[in-house]
Amino acid sequence: MINVLFSAQPKSWAEYEAPLRAAFTKAGIDAQLGTEFDPADVDYIVYAPSGPVSDFTPFTKLKAVLSLWAGVETMVDNPTLKVPLCRMVDHGLTESMVEWVTGHVLRYHLGMDKFLSGQDGVWRAGTAAPLARDRKVCVLGLGALGAACAQALVQLNFRVHGWARSPKQVEGVTCHHGADGLDAALSDADMVALLLPDTPATENVLNARSIALMRRGSFVVNPGRGPLVDDDALIAALDSGQLAHATLDVFRVEPLPENHPFWAHPKVTVTPHIAAETKATTASEVIAENIRRGEGDEPLLHVVDRAAGY
Ligand SMILES: NC(=O)c1ccc[n+]([C@@H]2O[C@H](COP(=O)([O-])OP(=O)(O)OC[C@H]3O[C@@H](n4cnc5c(N)ncnc54)[C@H](OP(=O)(O)O)[C@@H]3O)[C@@H](O)[C@H]2O)c1
Repeated sequence: MINVLFSAQPKSWAEYEAPLRAAFTKAGIDAQLGTEFDPADVDYIVYAPSGPVSDFTPFTKLKAVLSLWAGVETMVDNPTLKVPLCRMVDHGLTESMVEWVTGHVLRYHLGMDKFLSGQDGVWRAGTAAPLARDRKVCVLGLGALGAACAQALVQLNFRVHGWARSPKQVEGVTCHHGADGLDAALSDADMVALLLPDTPATENVLNARSIALMRRGSFVVNPGRGPLVDDDALIAALDSGQLAHATLDVFRVEPLPENHPFWAHPKVTVTPHIAAETKATTASEVIAENIRRGEGDEPLLHVVDRAAGY
């Protein structure tokens, strides 16, 4: 019998308890699952940083920490964490990110805002959108989420360029990589979607210099992390017309403070970190699979590279 501690917010326990128990049974895992154990008895922690555990030192027989979150920037530097950390790759979460990103890209492509924000009695003939094939969309980050979004955009006929740290092959996507590849990925882009992790190497990747590479009047969609964008450079580019609009789901400080200029900016849409949520049923299956692997001495899935920060 193994012990699995669930350490996240109490409301998450209510959501996850039944799906986790069902997933363990389906995977043939004989485990005690709960929110309270003697730390010395715990084998695995199902983890969110918003829960009670931040010091892993007392968990002396811990085998792995299984994150409920895809973004692990608040966990990678924890010096008390000495066992593998697995991030969440959940197809339910991926599906919802694909819906959110393609929704906002299509909204910009079709110019929906100008017809939704009040009808003024003016018949604007000749304002139909070009075809998607005539738009370049750049996806920064070609991991679990970025690659899925890029592929969905290819299916909609956009000209999709992507960027990652290492060389990638994603069908239909022109892939760039490394510091040298960023300019080609962004150059003349009509839209950019940011799906990079928050690491020292990705901070301010969208800045005055890189925004200037994009087409004048282009659009930004950021469901990645707040620090990927230089906020001041973004506002300056919106004010100058280099950027036409930005939809931001993530911020350096969350909740976004009431007095932050993004709230009042006419060219910014703020959404409250809702682009994609881990789904309890599908995420529980991923956690069960990793525990099954851990117990069977198979390699764990989605292990974080602590040095790279994601
Ligand atoms: N807003 C929301 O609701 C929400 C929900 C879930 C996740 N997220 C965010 O989405 C991010 C991406 O998630 P994911 O599951 O797709 O992560 P992932 O699978 O780890 O993919 C990350 C991608 O970023 C690339 N990358 C990392 N550092 C880079 C660098 N310095 N230069 C160029 N590319 C770099 C990686 O390149 P390689 O492929 O070469 O490693 C990879 O393609 C998460 O970290 C999280 O911050 C947001």
